[in-house]
Amino acid sequence: MISDDFIQELKYRNDIESVVSSYVALKRSGRTHSGVCPFHSEKTPSFHVYPETQSFYCFGCGAGGDVVTFIRKIENLDYLEALRLLAQRAGMAMPEDVRDDPTARLKTRILELNRCLARHYHQNLTAPGGEAGLAYLRGRGLSDKTIRRFGLGYAKNEWDDGTRFLRAQGFGEDEILAAAVASRGKKGGLYDQMRHRVIFPIIDLRGNVIGFGGRALDDHGPKYLNSSDTPVFKKSRNLFAMNFAKGSKEKGLVLAEGYMDVISIHQAGIDNAIATLGTSLTAEQSRLIAQYTDEVKICYDSDGAGQKATRRAIELFDQTGIKIKVVGIPDAKDPDEYIKRFGAQRFRLLLEGSSNSTEFEMARIKSNYDLETDEGKAGYLKELAGFLAGIRSPVERDVYISRAARETGVSKDRVDAQVAYSIAQKRRTSQKKEANALRPFAEESLGAEKSPEARKIELERRQNLRAAVAEDRLLTYLFKNPDGFEWIADKITPEQFVTGQNRRIAQAFYERLGGGLGLDMTALSAALAVEDMAHLSRLVNGAAGLNITRQEAEDCANALLQAGERQVDGEMSPEEIARRIQAKARRK
Ligand code: CTP
Ligand code: MN
Repeated sequence: MISDDFIQELKYRNDIESVVSSYVALKRSGRTHSGVCPFHSEKTPSFHVYPETQSFYCFGCGAGGDVVTFIRKIENLDYLEALRLLAQRAGMAMPEDVRDDPTARLKTRILELNRCLARHYHQNLTAPGGEAGLAYLRGRGLSDKTIRRFGLGYAKNEWDDGTRFLRAQGFGEDEILAAAVASRGKKGGLYDQMRHRVIFPIIDLRGNVIGFGGRALDDHGPKYLNSSDTPVFKKSRNLFAMNFAKGSKEKGLVLAEGYMDVISIHQAGIDNAIATLGTSLTAEQSRLIAQYTDEVKICYDSDGAGQKATRRAIELFDQTGIKIKVVGIPDAKDPDEYIKRFGAQRFRLLLEGSSNSTEFEMARIKSNYDLETDEGKAGYLKELAGFLAGIRSPVERDVYISRAARETGVSKDRVDAQVAYSIAQKRRTSQKKEANALRPFAEESLGAEKSPEARKIELERRQNLRAAVAEDRLLTYLFKNPDGFEWIADKITPEQFVTGQNRRIAQAFYERLGGGLGLDMTALSAALAVEDMAHLSRLVNGAAGLNITRQEAEDCANALLQAGERQVDGEMSPEEIARRIQAKARRK
């Protein structure tokens, strides 16, 4: 357990505004600071930092919490790791007992395991039973040097070759499962995740093997299989070959779709190519790329899916402010095939001649219309105006407006007017959206993707909306008036809170207040999960929580007690009954 003193000190030395502003450009607006949310894609800022409560909340995606929660989310760390990072930042020593916590130990073991296994896969290429792997890689035109450089390997066509090897190296079942390199079968034994696949080790910027990609050599299972997320691996924040590309002397980074593309490009002497890991580009990855370069060349497959992914990637990169180029691949399905067919030299020319993202989009829109007809021209200009309205630089916009006028033979003034109209329209919708987003305690679903846990919480709230709102208000009151604890605790116990999330928050409140401790966000984040911190942040910073009177708080408590009684009449789950019995016992 970390002492409260330590946490308080940590909080004072890590002011939320200064911590957040090293990740997000914040602008002051009244008593809060706002910026573009780092946790979801958006163009208008709905992310707010509240110095008074030392917390943050995003009205767009619902992320929120204190400074520790922020670091956990943005750096993908667990609670103790986040404390360690903040302590380091503030030049504080972590308390001794925390240094060798079990999570950190497990992570180290998984990294050791991955490294051993990667070596094993690589050695399989030249071992009996591994011929198929080597033949495949050579058949795809890879030199021995390339195979070595990328540490490529082969997982044999056996159930447990990898697992047996790892056991012999002293790794336990728990570790093997935690590394997600094997699963437990129906009969209880472990079987390898990768079988009869060529293996692409995924290496992070520190040179650790954090996961594996495997390409099938027959048609069992998906063509590509990637390690699932583990304590050391999160697909959405890592990039294949970034360990090589980050030190490249080439200009910018080349983002390709697949492992084979990246390896081919590197083999062609261009060592700044990277790829995502079996998922489409995420906002986190786009920011990571923007940290390493000021220009990205998107070089996706030439099929429809690749073009769609290109558009999505442009949107994400647009928010990072780096320069975007799009590399079209003529007469081949992907960079790998292009290089095989036309050679490294031609590919390099392709990279150099890449068009910018605006040209790419204009060409895409144009391909939807027949410019020989008047309807075609009108449709094209209308859609194009919508797109050009999004270009921030007036000079750049003007260049493309002129070009569109030339292409269609329509006067430049008319194209101008069309674009101006689109700009005005865009502004109106974004204002409306903002107003909606800022409506506090709105129960409509939020735009961003949600975890299953978040969905469960939301469902429970919807089913108990009245109770949930009463709880919200009561908790907000208590946070702002901790001196009301006595009468509130007298009236209602945490177990009598109806929704699970508010119950957990109430428990954390009661625990601290009952022990004579104060309530503050940072102290609470030791006891609450990230989702619960987000909700709490919304409560304490939301406008609706401003002036709750004691009378209103009492009404809320009464409403909750009544809601509880009503539920007794209905059907109750065994957990619910247990909870109530516990609550009764407590009150006696
Ligand atoms: N991918 C995946 N799962 C699949 C198919 C593809 O995760 N079932 C991911 C892989 O990361 C792959 C990338 O998408 O590298 C691109 O897919 P594809 O174009 O099919 O890969 P290629 O590299 O062209 O495949 P091949 O080995 O056939 O050249
Ligand atoms: Mn491909």
